[in-house]
Amino acid sequence: MKIFRGRVFTPVGDPFSAGDATASYRAWHDGFVAVDEGRIAAVGDWRDAPRAAEVTNFGPDSLISPGFIDTHLHAPQLEMIGSYGGHLLEWLNRYTFPTEAKFADPKHAEKVAKIFFDQLLRNGTLTALVFSTIHAAATDIFFAEAERRGIRAIIGKTMMDRNAPEVLLEKARDSYEQSRQLLLKWHNRGLLRYAITPRFAPTSTPELLELAGSLKREFPDAYVQTHISENAREVSWVHELFPQAEYADVYDTYGLLDKHTVLAHGVYLTDEELDLLSHRQSRIAHCPNSNLFLGSGLFKLHHVRECGVVVGLGSDIGAGTTPSLFTAMADAYKVQQVQNVSLTPLQLWYLATLGGARALSIEDETGSLEAGKSADFLVLDLESTPLLALRMEHAESAEDLLAGLIFVGDDRAVSRAFVAGREVLRRDRVEEPVVS
Ligand code: GUN
Ligand code: ZN
Repeated sequence: MKIFRGRVFTPVGDPFSAGDATASYRAWHDGFVAVDEGRIAAVGDWRDAPRAAEVTNFGPDSLISPGFIDTHLHAPQLEMIGSYGGHLLEWLNRYTFPTEAKFADPKHAEKVAKIFFDQLLRNGTLTALVFSTIHAAATDIFFAEAERRGIRAIIGKTMMDRNAPEVLLEKARDSYEQSRQLLLKWHNRGLLRYAITPRFAPTSTPELLELAGSLKREFPDAYVQTHISENAREVSWVHELFPQAEYADVYDTYGLLDKHTVLAHGVYLTDEELDLLSHRQSRIAHCPNSNLFLGSGLFKLHHVRECGVVVGLGSDIGAGTTPSLFTAMADAYKVQQVQNVSLTPLQLWYLATLGGARALSIEDETGSLEAGKSADFLVLDLESTPLLALRMEHAESAEDLLAGLIFVGDDRAVSRAFVAGREVLRRDRVEEPVVS
């Protein structure tokens, strides 16, 4: 048994639900997390910590928190962050497709895979749902690198058979076969899971969606990830391509909606579509940084949640401009502010941790610091920069401490990270002024 000592904060419930928000979390100024064989054995006040175990004391200026959970991003798009000008459909054609075509070369995939998972860990993301490209070899490389790093990841080979450059199109049957092979190799291997990944309705023929659905029927516990209703022109295009149905019905027709389905964006969903998603228990990945960068629109978080749909947070690299979930939380706050809704720091931290775990149906395993769960946690350095240290001097409560981290903190605050009790990141303070 190992004991980790420091400040501790963890959500244990949903702070959006009516009632007392203070019941939705636990916090200890001088707390501990006890870890045994990769699992959390106990969490609480230091005075109640089990004795006679090996203790690592991070000190009072460190916060132990659950790791962040990114419910939507594209590994191959890391190198094209900040490709500016144009909304979704121009952006895809101008930048995204040419970038993804480079992943036909496994050497390129190897290079990017290393940097990609490095960036996730530095930013405190310990669980991620990830798009690869159409390339089976590149997807295999992303899985292998995730396994090597010890991160918890759900990854899928993108499936596309129309409306993209020729080099990124596959035959629907090949796409199915290659996805199936990757699924058989990686799904439920250690911390890894497979996601069946039709890119979105416009790049899918009915035949491709049919085959994606039959793969899902064959492997009902596999994930499905795709995009939905991100951009107004995209929605009109889907109506032209699939005139018989609303956008969400397209995926439903092919059996692609269940509780292991995560749909990115959902900015323009109708109430009927939200009812359908709620009924099917499908999830939405809200990606505020991406929605702002591409000018896609303003997500109606409360309305979507009130319709009974579970929502997680996503960075949506590379339409999102950073893998940081600190930024995703800050941008989620701003997207609601301009719609006259003020999210609380407890709600934002929940979305980035336990809420994300619920979105991925892994809340029994991770997302909070509670006995029995996997020991997935971050150690955040509350003095990682002079500005954060100053802000922390004025943090009045656990909630205000989170606010400081969300709006002033960044990847430099992530000093250590553990997944299933294994240390996956250790970083010293990086910044010292030349003259102080
Ligand atoms: N819709 C279809 N593909 C993509 C993508 O790569 N990024 C975003 N943001 N939306 C998409
Ligand atoms: Zn995306």
